[in-house]
Amino acid sequence: MKREGAVRVDLGERSYMVLVREGLFASGDWAAHLAPLAAPGESLAVVSDEQVWALHGRLFDQAVWGKAVFCMRPGEGSKTLEMLGKVYGAFAAAGLSRNGLVVTFGGGVPGDLGGFAAATWMRGVRFVQIPTTLLAMADSSVGGKTAVDIPEGKNLVGAFHQPAMVLCDPAFLKTLPEREYRSGMAEIIKTGAIARESLFLETGRPGPIRAETLESCIRFKAEVVAADEKEGGRRRILNFGHTFGHAIEAKYRFEKYTHGEAVAAGMLLAARFGERLGVTEKGTAARIRDVLAGQGLLIEESSAGLLDYMKLDKKTAAGGVNLVLLKRIGEPEIVPVGFAELENLMREI
Ligand code: GLY
Repeated sequence: MKREGAVRVDLGERSYMVLVREGLFASGDWAAHLAPLAAPGESLAVVSDEQVWALHGRLFDQAVWGKAVFCMRPGEGSKTLEMLGKVYGAFAAAGLSRNGLVVTFGGGVPGDLGGFAAATWMRGVRFVQIPTTLLAMADSSVGGKTAVDIPEGKNLVGAFHQPAMVLCDPAFLKTLPEREYRSGMAEIIKTGAIARESLFLETGRPGPIRAETLESCIRFKAEVVAADEKEGGRRRILNFGHTFGHAIEAKYRFEKYTHGEAVAAGMLLAARFGERLGVTEKGTAARIRDVLAGQGLLIEESSAGLLDYMKLDKKTAAGGVNLVLLKRIGEPEIVPVGFAELENLMREI
């Protein structure tokens, strides 16, 4: 029998399990995990995207309830208020009650948008995340962040709404386009870099990610979320590479790089910046560079012009940013840096 990894996200009465098992869906066992989460006769509403549904939608034939399926066009462009309105319409047509269940099936977009729809439908219904991308498995499906984008910025409208369960089957990764897979690896490497030396080394292994490595990343994230669900402090460490990364994404109008690619470039800049600032142990940036290069993620973006985008970032504090820097691998630290200092040191990296 295949080993089933189970990670508990410990949040009191909102605790839940993340099951990680290769072949969970092909075996049909997953439906039994869902069954206790919705009373018989209640509606099950699936929020997915057209591509994922075309590839894997038939798995839902095993679902024990009558179901409604809403599929959006793939891509971040679907994470809008307009699409959210359509999802509410589908929930209404399906007669989804407060005792129903929403299942998000796909990458970060159906997960974030479907999760936000679940958070707000009738003031909150239960939902299950079934991530099919590496990024969603390792990061976005765990921790309860749900959101949509508005023209003024990404993820500006959202809620913390923890799923009732996350079902994670690495077999889905086999149909993931290469670029998307690599982008997900950036979040895996990020987790290794902030978690511990051994996991960081593991993320540099060539070949497809092992279920154990994925599970270790999820376990680390679960611990961080359990300690700081609403990102008052420690959870911010999960944003290592993201401040620079968001600025890089914005500089290219979210077209040139995927989120993961921008985070990869952002981690390298953060490590170099940390070394300049004297916070990060020398040699750390070179180690991150080597692991990124080994995973086909070496993106050398200069820091030129990024400061303007950091200042525009709606989540940035006035006067400066709270940067996640590493003292060394496995030791993240949140360091407030003023824009003037940032500008000076960024010229040198
Ligand atoms: N993706 C970062 C977090 O979940 O906090």
